[in-house]
Amino acid sequence: MIAPAKDTEKHEPTPAFTKKANELISHYPVSKRSGVLPLLHLWQETFGYISEEAVEWIAGKLELQKIHVLEVVTFYPMFREHAIGTYHIKVCRTLSCELGGAYETFNKFVKSIGKTKGADDHGVSSKDGKFTVEFVECLASCGAAPVVMVNEDFYENVTPNKVKELVAKYE
Ligand code: FES
Repeated sequence: MIAPAKDTEKHEPTPAFTKKANELISHYPVSKRSGVLPLLHLWQETFGYISEEAVEWIAGKLELQKIHVLEVVTFYPMFREHAIGTYHIKVCRTLSCELGGAYETFNKFVKSIGKTKGADDHGVSSKDGKFTVEFVECLASCGAAPVVMVNEDFYENVTPNKVKELVAKYE
């Protein structure tokens, strides 16, 4: 699990991180631009989310404009631009779960953590940073849709009427 990080935390790539980044870049001798995705993955695995510093650092490393990195970040739902909460609620939205009502479940989670915003591919966090709700793809228990994970805890058949109780468990 990625350790919760504050949006305000400063991210300083260590020499080991830079070495790994350089190694990844070396796989793309023709077009450095192809290195954007692997570097974003490396950054998010290391620091938990893609900060402004990340965009700047990766753009500098690949000799690109920041916008070229940012457009990749905003295109792919797996990249998040804010720190995740202490409790990371992952709602599966692949076919079985979608048909089973995953979007209603997701929206109920969003409401339960005090937000009014609907579905957001990049996750929604509570104001106190305690919870982040995010869509994910198949969690491999399709017969028990909708399926949800809270950090490493697994929950099946999470209909909207079960959401409040589930959130209360972590408050
Ligand atoms: S579709 Fe949701 S667990 Fe597989």
